[in-house]
Amino acid sequence: MSSISAFQPMTSQAVTMALCTTALGRSLHIVEETSSTNSAALALAQQGAVDGTVVIAEAQTSGRGRLGRHWHSPQGKNLYASILLRRAPLPKDVSRWLSWAPLLSAVAVARAIQVVTALKPSLKWPNDILLGQRKVGGLLCESSGMGSAQPVVIVGIGVNVNMWRDAFPEDLRDLATSLAAEAGHPFDRTSLLAMILSELELRYDAFFSGTSADIQHEYVLRCSTIGQAVRADLAHGEWIEGQATSLADDGSLRILVEDSSDARKRGSVVVLRAGDVTHLRSAHAAEKGT
Ligand code: BTN
Repeated sequence: MSSISAFQPMTSQAVTMALCTTALGRSLHIVEETSSTNSAALALAQQGAVDGTVVIAEAQTSGRGRLGRHWHSPQGKNLYASILLRRAPLPKDVSRWLSWAPLLSAVAVARAIQVVTALKPSLKWPNDILLGQRKVGGLLCESSGMGSAQPVVIVGIGVNVNMWRDAFPEDLRDLATSLAAEAGHPFDRTSLLAMILSELELRYDAFFSGTSADIQHEYVLRCSTIGQAVRADLAHGEWIEGQATSLADDGSLRILVEDSSDARKRGSVVVLRAGDVTHLRSAHAAEKGT
């Protein structure tokens, strides 16, 4: 891959030629700039867009991250994609689908990165994509029609592809990285997107054909949080620190609490359904500069 083609704008024609999927990406919207591809995909969902519709932007003016954070989305360098999944689970499986969609999507993105770049990303629970200790990508999954039997899930994927380290805002420089910064050369975003869609479609099909136990196993193998000392900040200023021990069947993280702002929690197992954790070993290493 020459550096010149890696920096070409993404086109519908090139993406369509690279696709190996049946549904995902067969309806494709590539825009120069939008506020957020997730918002664009949600609007398309409301207009009846088909399952597997993908929205890609070269830049986002208000890229959104999890927990209300901003997602840095400069023009032409990275991947900003949102995928609309609207297959209807059985009523008894709706909540399991909503819990697992972000996790299986994170596994798909990590696997695609590995196939395309030979780098080996890990997952920080629930769905941060790390290379070493730095974040290279993240997912923001949003659903609409959650009360109904036919929820629409938007899988928003941001991967830092061709940004060099010094192009990150200063506050992100020690926390974030890109595929190019890790490998020392740029990558073709079209090939990466096509691989992400293939890997995601595999797992989307597997979930709906009832083989999600494999996905849980695959997630655990990739997850660098399990077995780590972690800290979680809970509501109302409460916090816990302890060992992340395992994943529950609904994708929640079990933490054996060693210390907490609430003394009654010490020694108990807290099941974290949502939110974020800090890996304490890497936080301590960063403090010490190791
Ligand atoms: C996170 O780690 O906080 C999630 C980041 C998700 C960013 C992507 S970029 C494409 C899509 N559109 C958005 O506004 N956000 C997601």
